[in-house]
Amino acid sequence: MNDQDRNDSSESEEQDKVIHEYDGIEEYDNRLPRWWLFTLFGSVVFAAVYWSGYHILKSDELPRAAYEQQVAAARAKEAERIKAAGTVTADGLVLLSKDLGTVGKGKDIFATNCVACHRADGGGGIGPNLTDDHWIHGGKPDELYRTVTEGVPAKGMLAWGPVLGPEKVQDVVAYVLTLRNANVQGGKAPQGDIVVP
Ligand code: HEC
Repeated sequence: MNDQDRNDSSESEEQDKVIHEYDGIEEYDNRLPRWWLFTLFGSVVFAAVYWSGYHILKSDELPRAAYEQQVAAARAKEAERIKAAGTVTADGLVLLSKDLGTVGKGKDIFATNCVACHRADGGGGIGPNLTDDHWIHGGKPDELYRTVTEGVPAKGMLAWGPVLGPEKVQDVVAYVLTLRNANVQGGKAPQGDIVVP
């Protein structure tokens, strides 16, 4: 485009265009297309609304919290299914030990019935430490269930099955499973054999 051609173009168009020239390459300072600006400012506005919606107004759960809630709900449902099935299995007890509702009930049952001999944190006293990896009567979930249900009457551990009923025994065993290997401070010395869970 020579100077003559440029002079031919309309006056107003000419004002919009500032030419940068370098090394023979010319560049016009054109206005950005409307759709482009709309997308840019639209994104900025969207980001501001989206961010304040989640972080200031807290109108919805953040994805991580929402995910954890869904996992907790799925575990609660699974726990219900396991309890309804009526058969007690090692896998079922492990799943129950991951359900906050079941573990919470188990903790209450433990606080009412077990702390006198096993201490509030499970560290042991009259009864053995439930937070180490040593077990006298087996540390597998179904073995714990059996020990708690049948007790060890000769040693002062009651048979809790008839006292609590199978569902509450499951709850309290689910809680005891969360104590395994917690190794609380000042716990009673290990008794029995090492069990790798
Ligand atoms: C009156 C005291 C006493 C109470 C209350 C008691 N326990 Fe025990 N528990 C014992 C004793 C003692 C033993 C150890 C038995 C042995 O030496 O064979 C034991 C053993 C156990 C074991 C087996 C530990 C192992 O190493 O194999 C588990 C599990 C257990 N108790 C859970 C419970 C739960 C759950 C409760 C409450 C529902 C409870 N106990 C209440 C005294 C008690």
